[in-house]
Amino acid sequence: MGLVGAPRTHEPSVLVVDDHPLNRQLLEAYLGAVDCSVLTAASGAAALEIFAERAPDLVLLDVNMPGIDGFEVCRRIKATPQGRLVPVVMITALNRVDDRVTALEAGADDFMTKPVERSELIARTRSALRLKATYDSLESAERVIFALAAAVEAKDSYTEAHTQRVGASSRRLGQRAGLGGEALEALLQGGMIHDIGKIGIPDAILQKPGPLDAEEKALMQRHPELGERICRPLGSAAQLLPIVRHHHEAFDGSGYPDRLRGQEIPLPARIVAVCDAFDALTSTRPYRSARSPREAGEVLRAGRGRQWDPDLVEVFLADVEARGQIRIG
Ligand SMILES: [Fe+2]
Repeated sequence: MGLVGAPRTHEPSVLVVDDHPLNRQLLEAYLGAVDCSVLTAASGAAALEIFAERAPDLVLLDVNMPGIDGFEVCRRIKATPQGRLVPVVMITALNRVDDRVTALEAGADDFMTKPVERSELIARTRSALRLKATYDSLESAERVIFALAAAVEAKDSYTEAHTQRVGASSRRLGQRAGLGGEALEALLQGGMIHDIGKIGIPDAILQKPGPLDAEEKALMQRHPELGERICRPLGSAAQLLPIVRHHHEAFDGSGYPDRLRGQEIPLPARIVAVCDAFDALTSTRPYRSARSPREAGEVLRAGRGRQWDPDLVEVFLADVEARGQIRIG
């Protein structure tokens, strides 16, 4: 866990892309004032190649270039997993509003207009590199959490791909329920790691082929609190904590660990609870075979207001039906 939030150990690098040598030299000279190394590319194609090889921390990108132009370079960078979190600053001609709209659509993070001013370039570069350093630390925290979630899957064999499905369907239900932006990201991740606390539950209980006795059940029911404790020190996981802690609360207040009821239960946790239940019901477990989607839908409907948020169950089932998976009378 020593890597989490660790300060950057390498000098950040900035990729300067411009087809005019004089522009590249000018930007490179200006960047001498910033604590970074500079890579240069004279075309869009060269930029993509260097980006893939050297993984720079920031791209300063000219718009008008022969061949692959700056917009397309930006689009292609942002379409890659490692490029998603690398800031791209586009350098556009003055007063070209259209360019700015296109750059935004291509995923650019910031703009500068030509001619580039030295002090502005330095300030923006520093701020973009700070942003990138933050992204990097978030990513390493997330990497630890997801590595743990994968370890849970390995312990608990029935869950294979279960967590991914719950993450994806929670995100989808969140969207249907009117959430957006970061909340949807949290649902995707929270859906995937909600059972992370099972890492602390003995295998003999997780893999028991029959129903659990009272003592085993009590131990098993500690997994939401254990999971919260695992995720709490990781700053980027703050949004996931309510999902991890409250995914077994019941709408009528009979759940655990806090016996919250109704709207007291955080909405993301109510969403994950519905998606988790549906996926669990339609999967084979050590002690029973899978139910059909139709049967699972009936179980959810019967538990509306008791176990699950009745409105969310309706939205969820309407969506499942609309996708032609089931037909529930
Ligand atoms: Fe759980």
